[in-house]
Amino acid sequence: MKSAYKKVLSDKEKVVLIPFFKDYANVPAAYQQWLKDRSKAGILGGKRDEHLSLYLNAAGQPCKILFYCFGAEEEIKAKQIRSSLALAIKSLRQQPLPELALVLNNQFLKYSQEIGEALALSNYNTALFKTGQDRKEAEEKVIKKITIVSRDIDKVQKYNLEEGLKIGFAVNEIRDLINSPHNLVNEITFAKKAEEVCAKNKIRLKIFERRDLEKMKMGALLAVNGGSKHGAKLIVMEYLPLGRRQDPVVLVGKGVTFDTGGVNIKPTAGLAEMHMDMAGAAAVLGVFMLLRELEIQQNVIGIIPLTDNALDAGSQKPSDVITSYCGKTIEVGNTDAEGRLILADGISYALKNYKVSAIIDIATLTGACIVALGDQMAGLFGNNDQMKQRLKNAALETDEEVWEMPIHETHHKGLKGKFADLNNVDNSGMAGACTAAAFIEEFVDKTDWIHLDIAGPAMPKKPKDIDFQGATGFGVRLLTRFLQNIK
Ligand code: BES
Ligand code: ZN
Ligand code: ZN
Repeated sequence: MKSAYKKVLSDKEKVVLIPFFKDYANVPAAYQQWLKDRSKAGILGGKRDEHLSLYLNAAGQPCKILFYCFGAEEEIKAKQIRSSLALAIKSLRQQPLPELALVLNNQFLKYSQEIGEALALSNYNTALFKTGQDRKEAEEKVIKKITIVSRDIDKVQKYNLEEGLKIGFAVNEIRDLINSPHNLVNEITFAKKAEEVCAKNKIRLKIFERRDLEKMKMGALLAVNGGSKHGAKLIVMEYLPLGRRQDPVVLVGKGVTFDTGGVNIKPTAGLAEMHMDMAGAAAVLGVFMLLRELEIQQNVIGIIPLTDNALDAGSQKPSDVITSYCGKTIEVGNTDAEGRLILADGISYALKNYKVSAIIDIATLTGACIVALGDQMAGLFGNNDQMKQRLKNAALETDEEVWEMPIHETHHKGLKGKFADLNNVDNSGMAGACTAAAFIEEFVDKTDWIHLDIAGPAMPKKPKDIDFQGATGFGVRLLTRFLQNIK
């Protein structure tokens, strides 16, 4: 989607979106009385998301104009701007929509970044693998050019709107990756994508292949990879704009490209969705698409342990004892608890090789987290209250919701191994999301750390306004904002 800017609406426009508050201030003079009359007649109230269309412009030429009410200006929140604008765009996209003009005054331009995000996010094309007529129809409904019509827009607002668009485009690319099945996005193709992203953004990239990991004795990642056709990889991305002046924040994303459960095989229900088990890895890659574009002044390392969890003669067996990269031994109580194993090695790699200021891991880790919180928010765990508060602030600003969950001493106790240091599951079967977090904490030690369990919001059953059926790209906006907010 290209963007353009102009001062006044022309008669040539074919589709126009005019958002307005109850005071009608953003409605061009030519249409104000018309709209007010409809309101007086009771056709339109003043509530958010009420809307009315006109199929003729003021010059009498055919044109679709959607007047979309955002309620009372003093009651609006940034997240509602994002969601109502997305709903308006989605309704317009029911018909072919090559170009759209969007009228904005200062009441709306205060929320320029949210507007940019909403425009890009709601323009997602879900016809990923369709061909023929279906593809053609879907493509016609993707906006190719958006023209912002505004007398008022200043430099900063324009910059913020463009920034919002870039963020939204990155999220859409990540949605594509997560929505792609394992035969198309696997260890090989995901790594290729990482290469592309890093080349484009001048980010240093190291990819450790299976033979490297064997030499390094990265036992937990290799154990999960035991039954796989493709070798495991460890992707390491370095964005260090501040050089040695600052210790980096490390982002670790779970990159399980398909989770069969392994020998503890998953039931059929939900199994086909398990190509999304790399949504954490994709979110980290999404952040790396944006770091340089948004000129984020923060040293960041991205680590992605990448493998599928397959079922084959070589698969690890329940009761196997493995030695992780940091040397701790782990009894595999359940092969379906594979995410924490590969995260453990990813985190240990960071601690061994960098002077880390803080770690954030993001993972589709447990079904238990969905049971606890539903599928609209991520579970937030961590060992530093200040850092958690900063993450909660970023969540409020981006409307990627999180809810804090505890890690208690008892959650750690349940993970003691019979003969090995640790078991990868707590056999009580209780507090699954908390014990998974406790397991990861065993490898973090005292480093400031946050764990985000995104099993729910990565691919919720019911998409919300800015989302579509399938992957949301959850975490890209949240983590980017978290990094931007670090002073
Ligand atoms: N990838 C799953 C978690 C998951 C479930 C993600 C549903 C998205 C939607 C994870 O590897 C897993 O299987 N976790 C187990 C842990 C259990 C064996 C302790 C689970 O949640 O059942
Ligand atoms: Zn699993
Ligand atoms: Zn998994």
